[in-house]
Amino acid sequence: RITPVILSGGSGTRLWPLSRTARPKQLLSLTAAETMLQLTAQRTADVQAFDPPIVVASAAHADEIEAQLAAVGTPAAALILEPVARNTAPAIALAALALPGDAQMLVMPSDHVIADVAAFRDAVAVARSLVDRGWLATFGITPDAPETGYGYICTGEALMPGVHKVERFVEKPDRATAEHYLSTGAYNWNGGIFLFRADAFLAALDAHAPGITAAARAAHEAARREGTRLYPDADAFAASPSDSIDYAVMEKADKVAVVPVEMGWSDVGSWDALHALAARDDRDNAAHGEVLAIDTRNCLIRSDGPLVAAVGVQDLIVIATGDAVLILPRGSSQEVKRAVEALKAQG
Ligand code: GDD
Ligand code: MG
Repeated sequence: RITPVILSGGSGTRLWPLSRTARPKQLLSLTAAETMLQLTAQRTADVQAFDPPIVVASAAHADEIEAQLAAVGTPAAALILEPVARNTAPAIALAALALPGDAQMLVMPSDHVIADVAAFRDAVAVARSLVDRGWLATFGITPDAPETGYGYICTGEALMPGVHKVERFVEKPDRATAEHYLSTGAYNWNGGIFLFRADAFLAALDAHAPGITAAARAAHEAARREGTRLYPDADAFAASPSDSIDYAVMEKADKVAVVPVEMGWSDVGSWDALHALAARDDRDNAAHGEVLAIDTRNCLIRSDGPLVAAVGVQDLIVIATGDAVLILPRGSSQEVKRAVEALKAQG
C-alpha cells in the first residue's frame, strides 16, 4: 500500500481576507462543504490501496487538523509538526525519515481541487512499478495559460504506457519562458503531487541538498513523540536551508518520470480561480453565505460575516469576513497581494 503524505504548511495569502496565518487556505471550505484538507484526505481514503495519511504541518495548526480529519473519518497515522516553516523539501524529508525505506510516499498539497478522483488514483497506480525501481514520479497537467507560478515539465520518451521520462523540470519560469514552453506543446505543468520510495527521495535529496537531509535527520533523531504527534527537534530543524522539493530535487534529479493526467486539477490559487470552479447562477454569479444580488452579473460574492447586498454591479469580487472586506475587479485577483503587503508594512 501507499502512504499518503499531506503537506499542510502553506499560508495562501492570495485568498485574503478569508485565509489568514491562523486559518490558511487548506483549512477553509472553498469549493465544497468539506475543507481543502478534508477533500485531500478523502481522495486516498481507499484502504485497499492506501494507508492512513501522514500530515506534515505547522505545530500551530495541530488541533484544527486533527479535528478536521476526525470529522470526516480519515484520522492521520501521524502528525509531524514543524516548529518553523522551511518549505517543502525539509517537510517531505521528515515524513520520509519516519517511514521504512521501501514505503511508497504519495506527497500531496493540501489545497488543490481534483474533480476526477478515479483518474487521479489510476495515474498513481500506473506509476507504482517504476517508483519501485527508484524513480521519482510527478503528475503532469495540460497547461492552458503561461502561468509563472507552476513547475514546467518537458515530457520525454515513454518509459512504459502512460509514463514518460522527464527531459527537464523548470520551476516557476519567467513569463517569456512560460509562453515559449506553452507554444512548443512539449510541456506539462507539475501538479505538485509526487510518488516515490522514501529511500529514493532521501538519496536524491542527499545528492543535491545534503544540508537539508542532515538537518532533517538531526531533527528527526531528537524528535519528541506525543501519541500520534511527532515534534522534530526545533533547533536542528531551524538549521535547515529553506527550499522547495521542486528547486532542491526535481530540477536536478536524474530518474524523474511524469504521468500526464486529465483529472480536473486546479490549485485554486486566486479568487478568480474559485469563481471559475464554483457553482454559478444564470448570470454567472457565484455566491456563498448571506448574499443578496440584484441586477448583478459575473461576480463572486462571499460572506463569512455580515449580509452583503449587491445591486447593479458586474465583474466584481467581494469577500466579506467578520473583520475585513475585499473588493476587486474580476480578472485581477492576483493583485490581492498588494493589499496584504500594504497591511504587513503598516504592521
Ligand atoms: N508542511 C509544510 N511545510 N507544508 C508546506 C510548506 C512547509 O514549510 N510550504 C508549503 N507547504 C505546502 C503548502 O501548504 C502546499 O499544500 C504545498 O506544500 C505546496 O506548496 P506551495 O507553496 O503551494 O507551492 P507552489 O504552489 O508555489 O508550487 C508547487 O505547486 C505547483 C502546483 O500548484 C510546485 O510543486 C510547482 O512546481 C507546482 O506547479
Ligand atoms: Mg500552491
